[in-house]
Amino acid sequence: MAILVATDFNDDEWAAWWPALEAALPGEQLLRSGTVEQGSPIDVALVANPPISALQGLPQLRFIQSLWAGVDRLLLDASVPVHVPLARMVDPAMNTAMAETALWAVIAQHRGFFKYASQQRAAQWQQHAPVRADEIDVAVLGLGQMGRAAAQTIARHGYRVSGWSANPAVVEGVATSSGDAALHAVLAAAHIVVNLLPLTPATRALFGAKTLAQMRAGASLVNLARGAHVVDADLIAALDRGRLQHAVLDVFATEPLPADHPYWRHPRVTVLPHVAAQTDPRSAALIAANNVRVFRAGRVPANLVDRTRGY
Ligand code: NAP
Ligand code: GLV
Repeated sequence: MAILVATDFNDDEWAAWWPALEAALPGEQLLRSGTVEQGSPIDVALVANPPISALQGLPQLRFIQSLWAGVDRLLLDASVPVHVPLARMVDPAMNTAMAETALWAVIAQHRGFFKYASQQRAAQWQQHAPVRADEIDVAVLGLGQMGRAAAQTIARHGYRVSGWSANPAVVEGVATSSGDAALHAVLAAAHIVVNLLPLTPATRALFGAKTLAQMRAGASLVNLARGAHVVDADLIAALDRGRLQHAVLDVFATEPLPADHPYWRHPRVTVLPHVAAQTDPRSAALIAANNVRVFRAGRVPANLVDRTRGY
């Protein structure tokens, strides 16, 4: 049996991934999507943001391993068979990277570094009064792999951190709450809200006018999860009015972010090109390969997605 590798990788990404996968999966036949002949005996697919319908017509497919942590796009692709177990990427290296990005965004906001960057563009020398980390409330929405790491890292740097999840959670150094009813209070208290929720029917467009209005006046939003969590027009309106102070956005409804999108030039927006926690082939290929071996040994692979809840 063979393994299909279906991705949207560019040439540089293939150059990094292919040798890493070959080294991690010795003895396995790896087939790159687009080069596969009809009827090839494929029982495993390794996928990274594959083109829609890439998994169509694979009758022997028995296991799908995502090389990405978020599987929202796969779950919307009708060609991904619902009876085939789907595992997502869980890599401690990604959790660390995400925690670093979240911490950077929080520190930059707290210390006024985004303001100083725009002052530099205007050749404006102006100092702002100091504020201590323990005077800043940070809310982290989502306390899974990424949210937990981010919340703990931010808390260790002296910020007052609250975390919100679907089910009750215990996270050292973090005040936690769960369920829809708790969200308003979490948002209202926070100077900075970091979104690390999965994109599901329950969380899509969560940051629309209603939720943004529940945030503290002058607060900032850091979206490192998925672009479709945010209603762009509503966020831009809140930033334009000064109701929200700043947004750090790593993810967008359309990626790459179109060149004429208002986010690029908005004075209160910092844009990153979806790099908060990139999958690193050096570690992720080994993790994926290990899960393939678990599957081949007839055991249950790790980090299976619950399709009913959508993550
Ligand atoms: P995860 O481990 O699945 O954690 C999801 C967390 O969200 C859990 O704590 C879950 O609560 C909570 N949650 C889910 N639905 C909820 C709801 N309706 N209300 C409240 N809480 C809810 O996810 P992850 O691996 O940490 O990934 C987090 C996000 O980061 C995803 O959107 C992913 O796509 C994104 N991501 C972005 C990048 C990047 O580079 N920008 C990289 C990787 C991942 P329970 O624990 O109670 O179930
Ligand atoms: C990146 O966004 C991922 O889901 O791994």
